[in-house]
Amino acid sequence: MKQASTFALIACAALVSAQAQPYAQCGGSGYTGPKNCVSGWTCVYSNEWYSQCLQGSGGGATTAATRTTTTRTTTTRTTTTAGGGGGVNTGLTTVVPASSGSTTLPSARVISGTFDGGMIKYDRNPKVCQGQTETGEKDAMFILEAGATIRNVIIGPNQAEGIHCRGTCTIENVWWLDVCEDALTLKQSSGTSYVSGGGALNAEDKIVQFNGRGTVQVKNFYANSYGKLVRSCGNCSGNGGPRNVVIDNVVARGGGVLCGINTNYGDTCRISNSCQNSGKWCDRYTGNSNGSEPTKIGSGPDGSYCTTSNVRTSC
Ligand SMILES: *[C@@H]1O[C@H](CO)[C@@H](O)[C@H](O)[C@H]1NC(C)=O
Ligand SMILES: *[C@@H]1O[C@H](CO)[C@@H](O)[C@H](O)[C@H]1NC(C)=O
Repeated sequence: MKQASTFALIACAALVSAQAQPYAQCGGSGYTGPKNCVSGWTCVYSNEWYSQCLQGSGGGATTAATRTTTTRTTTTRTTTTAGGGGGVNTGLTTVVPASSGSTTLPSARVISGTFDGGMIKYDRNPKVCQGQTETGEKDAMFILEAGATIRNVIIGPNQAEGIHCRGTCTIENVWWLDVCEDALTLKQSSGTSYVSGGGALNAEDKIVQFNGRGTVQVKNFYANSYGKLVRSCGNCSGNGGPRNVVIDNVVARGGGVLCGINTNYGDTCRISNSCQNSGKWCDRYTGNSNGSEPTKIGSGPDGSYCTTSNVRTSC
C-alpha cells in the first residue's frame, strides 16, 4: 500500500516536470525538452529555433510543434551557413557582421545551456525600448540562466534591456545594433562572466551594467558611441562588492570610460591592450545603497583600483 502510493507520487511528479514552465522554451530545432506548457500557458512559435510558453491560450501547442517540424530543413541549412558549421568568431572585429535573417519575439527569451543564434537578428515586437527608463528583466531580449552561453546573435533596437544574466554567463560574438537602456546586465552572486568578441553601438548610457558580484571579463570587444563600457552599480539596494572588471583587447570609439567602479567596495578594473580614442579609461566612485547619485572621486588609472597596460588612443 505504502509502495503503491509512492509510485503514484513519482508518476505524478514526472508528469508535472514534463511540462514547460512559463516563458520557457517548448519547441524549436534541436530542442528535446517538454513541449507542453503548464496550465494557462501556450506554446507559441517564434522561429525555427524557438517556441516559448506564453500566457493565455491560442490553441498553439500543436501548431508550434508542426511549424517547427516543417521548417527543420531550412534551419539546418541556415545554421550551417551562418555559423560555419558551429564556429564562432570570438576575435576582435569592428565591422558588424551581416545578419542571416531576422525575427521578432513578443517577450524575452529564456536560455539555459547554450544558444547559437546563427547570426539571426533578434528584436522585440511590440517594441519595448523607452530610452533610459529602467524597466527590468522582462524587457530584455534574452534572459540567461546561470551558466548559460549565447553566441552568434545580433540584437536590434526595439528591445530595452538586451541580455540579463541571472548567474554567470558567456556571451560570444553578440552584436547590439542600438543599445536601449543597457546591453548586458549581470546579476551573478560570484564567479566570472565572459564577453568575447562582438560589439555594441549607440548606447546612450552603459553597455554592461554590473549589479552582481565577482568578475566580468570583456575581451575582443568593439564599442562605438556609448556612455560607459562597464559600470559597477553605483546605488543599487544591497549594493557592495568587490566587482572586478577585466578588459582586454577592446576598441572603443566615441564614448566615455571603459569602466566605472566603486572603490569603497574594493572594485577593480584592469585594462590591457586596448584603445579608447579619447583616453577615457576609468572613473572611480563612492557607491551607495540608498539610491542617491554616487559621488565621483577620481578619473583615470590610480595604480591600485584601476590599472592600464599597453593602452592607446589612436583607433
Ligand atoms: C546615501 O549613502 C551615502 C553613503 O553611505 C551617504 O553619504 C548619503 O548621505 C546617503 N544619502 C541619503 C539620502 O541617505
Ligand atoms: C543611481 O545612479 C545612477 C548612476 O549609476 C544614476 O543614473 C541614477 O540617477 C542614480 N539614482 C538616483 C536616485 O540618484
